[in-house]
Amino acid sequence: MKSSLVPGFYKLSIDERIEVLRDFLDLNVEDVAVLKSLCTLGFKELTSIGENPVSNFELPLRIANGFKINGVDYFVPMVVEEASVVAGVCYGAKICYESGGITSHVLKESNYGKAAGQIQLINVDDPVEVERKILAEKNYLLEKVNKEHRFSKAYDLKVQKFEDEILVVNVYVDPGDAMGAAVASDMAESIAREIVKIVPCVCNACIVSNFSGRHVKAEVKIPVDKLSRKNVKGKVWSGEEVKNGIVWLSRWAEKDMYRAVTHNKGIMNGVDAVAVATGQDWRAIESANHAFAFRSGCYLPLSKWRSEGNYLIGELEMLVPCGIIGGEIKNFPKAEFALRKILRVKKADELAEIMAAVGLAQNLAALSMLATIGLKEGHQPHRKRIFS
Ligand code: MEV
Repeated sequence: MKSSLVPGFYKLSIDERIEVLRDFLDLNVEDVAVLKSLCTLGFKELTSIGENPVSNFELPLRIANGFKINGVDYFVPMVVEEASVVAGVCYGAKICYESGGITSHVLKESNYGKAAGQIQLINVDDPVEVERKILAEKNYLLEKVNKEHRFSKAYDLKVQKFEDEILVVNVYVDPGDAMGAAVASDMAESIAREIVKIVPCVCNACIVSNFSGRHVKAEVKIPVDKLSRKNVKGKVWSGEEVKNGIVWLSRWAEKDMYRAVTHNKGIMNGVDAVAVATGQDWRAIESANHAFAFRSGCYLPLSKWRSEGNYLIGELEMLVPCGIIGGEIKNFPKAEFALRKILRVKKADELAEIMAAVGLAQNLAALSMLATIGLKEGHQPHRKRIFS
């Protein structure tokens, strides 16, 4: 019986690893040649990726044009397999551009840390007393941990009680221009070492909470005449009709979780693509917003659209755990290029504001399409529409 449990699999050379696969999967000579020829990296680069590579996996780096965010023009790098995502976001961005652009800001007074760490304390005999003692030492704990970090700042601690013997300490962190997962976990560990000296309990684990990130609000105000569109057969929808269709869709998503999830998926189409292009941990962005959409105890759309006289108003709030230093960025020259040469962002907050604005434009495009031409025609990328 062949086994996939190969001791030291990670230590094998690329050729040896492929040989193990050939044997296990009964690949023939042509299969192995195909697998090898799919690789577009040199041997040295592939090896340096670390942890079990056999090839690399290429996705297109696309550019979305027509973005004006906080008064600045951007070409936005997006890595996504689906062409219609970028066709859609360019459509949405153009409408926003012609309406004066999107404003997008990190909310300074948010209840969510730009990053947060958690400490699980167990075997807590007297949770009320332990909480009191920890909070009495809050300033000392924060000052001590902040001395160990130059670029990040822990600014608050909160304690929560779960079951009889479990207390969880949440540490809220401003990680500067890093995404903050590593520093939040690190700070949680440092603070936990101090806490167990102060109170009688055991620290079981410390880890970042992915329910954190830069809390961004993106907004757009669109004059109704910018919204009209027609389908390939020439049917025309007036701006007023499109506006109303979008508002009906927004109201549906606010009431029906099945629709809200799809509405939010449309937003994440754009946000994830920018996240991948810029070397972000897109799973962190996804998980933060799964919880964020549910923060009221009811799963809701991240954006809402409403009519105000002759305008369509769109607002989106989301968490964007992202950074422009640290993480995996330096291991991926294309991500560095996307950040520094295409987006030219100077601060992580700026990147977060761009990503939320992309989410809003993507959402606008999806809702306009659904309320008018429909998914089938809407998913024809521009090139196909032009050349077929
Ligand atoms: C498809 O990838 C995204 C949409 O389903 C989003 C939506 O329904 O709002 C079109």
